[in-house]
Amino acid sequence: MTRLLVTGASGLLGANLALLAQNLGYEVLGWTNSRPLVDAPFTTRAVDFGNPQDLALAFEAAEPDALINCAAQANVDAAEKQPEHAFRVNAEAAGELAKLAGSASVPMIHISTDAVFDGTKGDYKETDTPNPLNTYAQSKLAGEHAVAQANPEAAIARVVFYGWSLTGTRSLAEFFYNNLTAGKPVNGFTDMFFSPLYAAHLAEALLEMLQKRLSGIYHVYAPESLSKYDFGVRLAQEFGLDASLIRPISALDSDLPTRRSLNLSMNTDKLQAALGKPLPSQTEGLRALHADLDSGLRQKLLSFTH
Ligand SMILES: NC(=O)c1ccc[n+]([C@@H]2O[C@H](COP(=O)([O-])OP(=O)(O)OC[C@H]3O[C@@H](n4cnc5c(N)ncnc54)[C@H](OP(=O)(O)O)[C@@H]3O)[C@@H](O)[C@H]2O)c1
Repeated sequence: MTRLLVTGASGLLGANLALLAQNLGYEVLGWTNSRPLVDAPFTTRAVDFGNPQDLALAFEAAEPDALINCAAQANVDAAEKQPEHAFRVNAEAAGELAKLAGSASVPMIHISTDAVFDGTKGDYKETDTPNPLNTYAQSKLAGEHAVAQANPEAAIARVVFYGWSLTGTRSLAEFFYNNLTAGKPVNGFTDMFFSPLYAAHLAEALLEMLQKRLSGIYHVYAPESLSKYDFGVRLAQEFGLDASLIRPISALDSDLPTRRSLNLSMNTDKLQAALGKPLPSQTEGLRALHADLDSGLRQKLLSFTH
């Protein structure tokens, strides 16, 4: 049985990944930070990436066969206010973890972001030059460099995703679902494009990447991109909700506190070739999101912190 260390296990991706891996027969050790998981079906431990010594001791104690680093300061506005903390968690700690994994010959995937690009071009390939626009994105790019330098065998997965979270409010899908089911009008950006995967589909792709021992940068996205407005409309259609509650607006006319990239449509050819199959479409992702709501996944994740 593979002993898989998932950092950020109280986060949107980490919780979904840990649960899926557990269900697939992995022995999962989930690291959290400020939010303990009271009822998770896998072993957990609180490890603060602010403390390099704790990180090293916890890694030694974990004795993992494989590692997926989902932990991050992933709140874009908070990162802008506390850049040192963002660089510590997203860059320095990621590099330290990569070094520890490399020294122990533990295969590792480090999670990065589409936001390393400035969003002026779209259809971004792994070979395109990043140009991050805000502190969060700069710290994530620094994390990529730290990981690649410390451990050239590690894989770096640039991602964007949606799903059901422990708080019930973390993802864009939950934003649309929660508001539309309550009959509340919301804004949807017509000029902000992305290529999101459903979290469980992303988790499956990451586990396949581990099995294939991929290293270097990979774009792990849905093969089609869409605007955030269109995503909301497609979600409304999937769940039988009122799409007319979504107001189409330009992101340029909104009062977002932190500068964000507009066209983050991504090219996934490299990963699809490596995996030898297509990544799931938007329709497949939204259907799986719906099926997982019906099968009780959302309630299960919510129960982890209550
Ligand atoms: N959400 C997206 O669509 C998106 C898009 C692009 C890239 N990403 C990347 O995907 C990864 C996962 O994102 P997510 O949305 O799942 O994030 P999230 O929901 O905000 O969760 C972040 C996780 O990191 C942990 N963490 C935060 N500070 C920490 C610290 N000082 N020490 C140890 N752990 C710490 C959190 O622990 P506690 O909650 O217990 O404090 C939590 O488990 C991140 O690398 C993020 O940059 C996300």
